Amino acid sequence: MGDGGDMSELTKPALVGGAKACDFEWPRWPVHGDAERSRLLAVLESGQWWFGERVREFEAAYAAFQGSRFAVTCTNGTTAIEMALRGLGVVEDDEVIVPPYTFIATASAAVTVGAIPVFADIQPDTLCLDPADVARKITPRTKAIIPVHVAGRMADMEAINALATEHRLVVTEDAAHAWGSQWRGRGAGTLGRCGTFSFQVSKNLTAGEGGIMVTDDEELADLCRSFTHCGRRKGSAWYDHDYLGSNLRMTEFQAAVLLAQLERLPEQLARREQNARLLDEGMRDLPGIRLLAPAPDMTRRSYHMFIFRVDAAALGLSRARFIKALQAEGLPVSEGWYRPLYRNGVFANAHVGPQHGIKSPLAAKGVDYREANCPVCEQVCRDAVWIPHPVLLAEEPKIQSAITAIRKVIGQAGSLVGGD
Ligand SMILES: Cc1ncc(COP(=O)(O)O)c(C=O)c1O
Repeated sequence: MGDGGDMSELTKPALVGGAKACDFEWPRWPVHGDAERSRLLAVLESGQWWFGERVREFEAAYAAFQGSRFAVTCTNGTTAIEMALRGLGVVEDDEVIVPPYTFIATASAAVTVGAIPVFADIQPDTLCLDPADVARKITPRTKAIIPVHVAGRMADMEAINALATEHRLVVTEDAAHAWGSQWRGRGAGTLGRCGTFSFQVSKNLTAGEGGIMVTDDEELADLCRSFTHCGRRKGSAWYDHDYLGSNLRMTEFQAAVLLAQLERLPEQLARREQNARLLDEGMRDLPGIRLLAPAPDMTRRSYHMFIFRVDAAALGLSRARFIKALQAEGLPVSEGWYRPLYRNGVFANAHVGPQHGIKSPLAAKGVDYREANCPVCEQVCRDAVWIPHPVLLAEEPKIQSAITAIRKVIGQAGSLVGGD
């Protein structure tokens, strides 16, 4: 590693006064164009703004895209998990096994339906749920498992499904990052009993907000539809509410935008995959960089973000300093948003009463997460680096500049030691 003694402007890190390796704009997100504009205007002028023909068209198109028989839209990825759990029959005090390296919704959805999240660790080289730890966390009260396909990298569904079969559990995939991801040609969300997706604004397929559940199980699809539609049963009269429901309907405006976004997605997916391959190749030999394990069985991968891990000792730099140096080069990396979910107040204070539906929903359930510890997740939260997906939409020369930035910072780590 260089000691910074003979640095030219091109090799000198921007953080200590060198030229930026990425002195240009990265693609912005979200992307829109005439397709969204004309579809939105058509909805506006039709006067049919409410759940209708375009929502159904989007559901059919998305089911076909993921390879499922049915799809049920809803308001967002959080309510999609909630309705899936309800549809699968998860009830009060059931245990639901979830990973801690994910967005809060994976676990909070279980709490919302009255169940108890149980955290199982992740694998160090996929960042997805570790089936071996899932096996250790199964109890007679376990009802469901929610694997998360983190950043579009699919969890080991074969092992998770085998556990589910052995212990008679249901599996719903949190595929909120996995639009288009496939395992041996099978779409994310179709490997468990069902799978859920988010269309929130940061997501690779977006209408600002929105969610969907896909499944091959018609009865489950009908139940979830009923739940999203105020408890109306398929074919029942308008004011007959046979089941418990809520109003989670998607609007025609959202469906119009999503239909346009879905048309663009295959090309974007291919570009992200190609750029991720370049990043993998460009970083493979670097000291202190730990790339995630290759996934040869994934026939397509969405890359909601590109995540790698760093070894600060081998880098000769703390992760915080490494990230700061890359940001100075113009590469928008971050530590990522995740910290072990069980450290959030809703779980960390679960033992503190009195019970309150919002403030302490778990208080009366006898659970205590203060001892929860998933060491792999803890370590990943300390050493992960995230590159957001809009970067992966850039042209190849910009990706090469990103690689130059990373190589430069690592090569000149000696000049960056110190600072914060
Ligand atoms: C893994 C995961 N699950 C669920 C959700 C919830 O989706 P939404 O924000 O649409 O409610 C998100 C959103 O960030 C997510 O990243």
